[in-house]
Amino acid sequence: MTGHEKYMFRAIELAKLGSGYVSPNPMVGCVLVKNDKIIGEGFHEKYGGPHAEDMAIKNSYELPLDSTAYINLEPCCIESKTPPCTKLLYENGIKECYISILDPNPKIAGNGVKALKEFGIKVHIGLCKEMSQKLNKGFIKWITQGKPWVILKIAQSKNGFLGLNNSTRTQITTNESICDVHNLRTKVDAILIGKNTALVDNPKLTVRYAKGTNPLRIILDTNRKLPLDLNVFRDQLAETIVLCSKDKFSNSRTSFCKYIAVQEQNGKLSLNESLIAIANEGVTTLLIESGPELIKSLMDENLIDELYLYSSNKNLKNADLKNPLKLSNKWKINFSKDIGEDNLINAERKLECLQEL
Ligand SMILES: NC(=O)c1ccc[n+]([C@@H]2O[C@H](COP(=O)([O-])OP(=O)(O)OC[C@H]3O[C@@H](n4cnc5c(N)ncnc54)[C@H](OP(=O)(O)O)[C@@H]3O)[C@@H](O)[C@H]2O)c1
Repeated sequence: MTGHEKYMFRAIELAKLGSGYVSPNPMVGCVLVKNDKIIGEGFHEKYGGPHAEDMAIKNSYELPLDSTAYINLEPCCIESKTPPCTKLLYENGIKECYISILDPNPKIAGNGVKALKEFGIKVHIGLCKEMSQKLNKGFIKWITQGKPWVILKIAQSKNGFLGLNNSTRTQITTNESICDVHNLRTKVDAILIGKNTALVDNPKLTVRYAKGTNPLRIILDTNRKLPLDLNVFRDQLAETIVLCSKDKFSNSRTSFCKYIAVQEQNGKLSLNESLIAIANEGVTTLLIESGPELIKSLMDENLIDELYLYSSNKNLKNADLKNPLKLSNKWKINFSKDIGEDNLINAERKLECLQEL
């Protein structure tokens, strides 16, 4: 590993500390180095708060003059909730800048680099690029496509069932896997379920067996049929949004939840419109924890980006809630690991290649 990579790794590690607090902003970390020694570190800690570059400068224990900055995302060059970071870097005498990836925000996208160069700062782009893209995949999709990064979590028995039937709650995997899912919840902005899961499982969808913040809870309930005594409406532990049909309802809010009306399609909610409405709420990463009906609809429309498949080592007898997902060659497996007696596979949908001309 080169010294440059070591410092960029550190910037990426710092950026991760903002997970769960900065969305819909990206996670950004910054390291200032002088004479091959770190003199300042900072990260974007919360939405609306100072940017990573500003924090690193403020935290420096030596004058940052003539230092080199390592940042996992291109510095901003626009006045927003905070002053432009390009100007801050210049005013504090930073002479060189290693930037992992350009900011996909069209208002910045290369303009930050241009501004740094105009200030006479030497710029290098692309160090640890894949790691930085992976870290902010939610933000990148949200800002470029107006939809969240969609992660599907499934718990299946050894013989491929998600439960006994769609009117019974069944625990499929062990408590170790459940803790792992709670950890996954800390990394997303929102969780989405279908109406039947809300009704049958009455889940809380909060983070209880891991350290982190509770995500927003979202339910698809076309005709607003869900009773208001469910945990998601009663416990006040996180905000709840119900997506319902535009043909019957309009946007409204009660003390239980917020209702957002979206287009109906063949008697159900349009998933494309639902994802856009969810993104408009500032959700960059969305975890699906629903039953097979919603999973199948999402799969049919190729709307799932990433998958966490938890498999038990026990068969479920007399079950008819079959897992509709097949791990075909459309999926690239990132890793597979054992969690206690269960197994977890993480995979990502392969990008479709355009036919060669
Ligand atoms: N093992 C696991 O990983 C796991 C996870 C969660 C749940 N479960 C189990 O799954 C069962 C429930 O699953 P389920 O398949 O019956 O229901 P579901 O997927 O949780 O919910 C489906 C319902 O969501 C609403 N919906 C609105 N728009 C939709 C759309 N475009 N596509 C699909 N659904 C849409 C529909 O109700 P409206 O038409 O009324 O709006 C639909 O009937 C329960 O037994 C639960 O325990 C298992």
